[in-house]
Amino acid sequence: MTTDRPYYITTPIYYVNDRPHIGHCYTTLLADAAARFQRLARGLDIDGKDEPTRAGSAPAGPAGRVFFLTGTDEHADKVVTSGAEHGVSPLEWATRNADQFRAAFAAMNFSQDDFIRTTEDRHKTRVHGYIRQLQAGGDIYLGDYVGWWDESQEEYLTETVAKDSKFGPYTSPVTGRPLVKRTEKNYFFRLSKYETALRAHIDAHPECILPEARRNEVLGRLRQGLQDVPISRAVTDDPTTQWGIRMPDDPGHRVYVWIEALCNYLTVVDTPGRKDLWPASVHVMAKDILWFHAVIWPAMLMALSRTENIGKLGLPSTVYAHSYWVREGVKMSKSLGNFVTLEVLKAYADKYSLDAVRWYLLTQGPLGATDADFSHAKFIEVYNADLANGVGNCASRVSNMIAKYFDGKVPERAPTPISDVGTVAQDLAAEAARCQAKFDLDSGLLRAVSLISRVDLYINETQPFKLAKRLDAEPQLRATLGHILYDCAEAIRIAALLLMPAMPQKMTELLAKWGSTPPAGVPLADLVQFAGPYGLNPGTAIVKGEALFMRADPAEPPPA
Ligand code: MSP
Repeated sequence: MTTDRPYYITTPIYYVNDRPHIGHCYTTLLADAAARFQRLARGLDIDGKDEPTRAGSAPAGPAGRVFFLTGTDEHADKVVTSGAEHGVSPLEWATRNADQFRAAFAAMNFSQDDFIRTTEDRHKTRVHGYIRQLQAGGDIYLGDYVGWWDESQEEYLTETVAKDSKFGPYTSPVTGRPLVKRTEKNYFFRLSKYETALRAHIDAHPECILPEARRNEVLGRLRQGLQDVPISRAVTDDPTTQWGIRMPDDPGHRVYVWIEALCNYLTVVDTPGRKDLWPASVHVMAKDILWFHAVIWPAMLMALSRTENIGKLGLPSTVYAHSYWVREGVKMSKSLGNFVTLEVLKAYADKYSLDAVRWYLLTQGPLGATDADFSHAKFIEVYNADLANGVGNCASRVSNMIAKYFDGKVPERAPTPISDVGTVAQDLAAEAARCQAKFDLDSGLLRAVSLISRVDLYINETQPFKLAKRLDAEPQLRATLGHILYDCAEAIRIAALLLMPAMPQKMTELLAKWGSTPPAGVPLADLVQFAGPYGLNPGTAIVKGEALFMRADPAEPPPA
């Protein structure tokens, strides 16, 4: 894994006409877990508290920075209409909802380094700058646009996409709502000019669109050719059209919300002290908005890079488009009213712990190319298997035996290993890091679960409780017993570190019980060395404490 470059990860900026739900929380959770892993890898504070551009914080470690950005996209037309329905201004409505997103993200224990709202001046002024640069470079012109407008998605669709919608001709392929035919005078971006360069870039950098299935879709669509895209909308007497960022030097037009929204990834870091963060390492999102990120955004960056004032910008390393959380095969959405709300997530967190919710979403979610169903039965199954009977029970078993046979102190480890637990731990930690590098977050986390299973198996194989019974007659077995329990406890320490990005609270708790809170400034690769310099110290107290995760009864109804 490269930790010598800053790691900059972003989520989509979410529309504020709607309250946050499982979909928004899921994407942001992926980014949170990835950011936490990268901080751990670099020996930075896992909550990001040492990111230098956070107010009042200490400088980041020498091995490179980690920066995690999320926020809200506030200039959609619906903000004006929803605000009006509630008797408030668009900005007031946006603020109310942006606050809901902030609150939801705090409740999920997300560790974003910044939260951008597109109504902020820092965004608006830079967007103007970029548009001016694109105009100066000859990449923007005024023309006529006739197209199919998808009101539910705030986007124009091409004739082919509109006609072939899976919900029937001229309906939204996402929500099934009827499309509207519109003609406008618009400013256009010369997207067509970048077709060859984009294709060459995607061919040369297979990791720039992931998962692979999504990359192939983008390449397929690119082969049909690229048309220039409108990037402005006319301003009229209708108040809806007056909301947004005006085109520079032409107040009769506003910048199309999608175009300025994409710029957020750059506006936030286009400032002293953050410039080294560009290009982004990963833009995470669901597949609904992949085209904007995989095609339009890189083309805009290429165009900006050609202009003198901005210079070479570099393209994001990876655009990662996961699939959807669904209910009975249908995407959750506001229009269908079938999504898992924050209240539901909170009820699960109250009953089973927040980290259990994070674990379920991270390991069972639609990370790859297939959609995932949110199911109570599955939640309980995974909770019991991985957490209550998995890491929680394993830690209890080992700490109980250490309490009973070694007075609660980490025993000595004989110089010669008597099992492969150390090697297994080492290999799994290395694999977990490789998975992270490919954004294969769930596979990475499952490596830690395998390590816990290996410890359970090792206990079953060596039966330390039986050895303990023979100690009076055969005192020399004490060294073997100590060695076995040392290896178990040490493997649990390593598993806890690997699980930390997913379950920061519970794993901090576990490591504290283990007397092994990771010291600041030490990268993960050093921390996970089995019985290495940061391994468990014989003689350190291990606290038994309460079970980390109480077992759940599968017969219980979902929490209300
Ligand atoms: N504002 C635009 C994004 C602009 S980014 C420059 C937007 N906003 S959104 O509020 O509609 O958020 C879309 C994103 O929310 C998806 O790409 C995904 O990250 C997340 N999800 C919304 N519903 C989802 C599911 N049902 N399942 C998984 N994620 C989903 O589009």
